[in-house]
Amino acid sequence: MSGRVMGRSGSSEERPSRQINVILRSTEPPVVSQSLPEIESTSGAKVMPQQSLFNELQKEMDGLVGLDHIKELMFEIFALLQIATMRSEAGLLSGAQVYHMVFKGNPGTGKTTVARIVAKMFQRMGVLSKGHLIEVERADLVGEYIGHTAQKTRDLVKKALGGILFIDEAYSLARGGEKDFGKEAIDTLVKAMEDQKNQFILILAGYSEEMDYFLAANPGLPSRFPIQMDFPDYSIDQLIQIAEGMVKERDYILMPQAILKLKQHLLREKLESEHLFSNARHVRNIIERSIRQQAVRLLNQYSGGSPGKLELMTIRTEDLKLDKK
Ligand SMILES: Nc1ncnc2c1ncn2[C@@H]1O[C@H](COP(=O)(O)OP(=O)(O)OP(=O)(O)O)[C@@H](O)[C@H]1O
Ligand SMILES: [Mg+2]
Repeated sequence: MSGRVMGRSGSSEERPSRQINVILRSTEPPVVSQSLPEIESTSGAKVMPQQSLFNELQKEMDGLVGLDHIKELMFEIFALLQIATMRSEAGLLSGAQVYHMVFKGNPGTGKTTVARIVAKMFQRMGVLSKGHLIEVERADLVGEYIGHTAQKTRDLVKKALGGILFIDEAYSLARGGEKDFGKEAIDTLVKAMEDQKNQFILILAGYSEEMDYFLAANPGLPSRFPIQMDFPDYSIDQLIQIAEGMVKERDYILMPQAILKLKQHLLREKLESEHLFSNARHVRNIIERSIRQQAVRLLNQYSGGSPGKLELMTIRTEDLKLDKK
């Protein structure tokens, strides 16, 4: 199973995600005991009505190619937040949940994109007051002398309050062993998770194997991150679908021959660069470069006048520059 929610003890639990998913995706409106206009949450943030919030999130998640397990898990978290609100309104215990997460996957597999959606969801559900994302890496946290790291890390936690602190390549904090200042950053983060409970969500991201090793080497950590999401590499067909989505949202079209050329390139590239292949990020770079190349071609080709609308939209085989820059 790709994504999973674990109990606070850290043990994996069976989750009825499919069932939750079906209920949430049902076209029939849910039976509610009272209409839910805007609800004032405990954090003071406005909570959107269930159905429109759900539709908005669903639209955003559906816009992403693949990532089925992650979509399921997101709806599971959504359901949990929604029910917790209703339970507390009904005077029931809603349980203090921990929402810190670990995102595992290769570059360009959608981790930052999903983190942004998570931030938005928690903000709209009233759990986070701001819903912003502060994305950092080792160099932003680790300082040069004793005490410097703790200060830098605390400052970043402060900036992230009300939102998400996303640490990319988090495993690198354990790089240098006991004497390395990375350890000071980890200790400071753990302390902040206790002191500023529920005021920010921490997401640690990085390659799967490195993250597994990192978590195993820091026994106090796994139980603090009950939500783990695995971001698999995209298949070639998914990457092509992503490319088509990217050109479409920019008002361009890829000619069939250009798609074929891209497909062959991706097959080769994926095989050759394995671990270093940067998935959808690689596709985005190619598309953005092709758009620039198309502009140059059109200017050269139509020096006297303007190309027609279709020509302005079309990306041809010759616009795809696939050599390494
Ligand atoms: N499933 C998807 N569907 C559509 N576009 C996607 C998908 N996944 C990623 N992308 C796009 O690919 C690009 C890279 O994604 P993102 O930055 O989220 O990856 P990442 O895992 O954070 O990468 P890195 O590890 O390099 O930081 C973004 O432009 C994003 O919009
Ligand atoms: Mg990223």
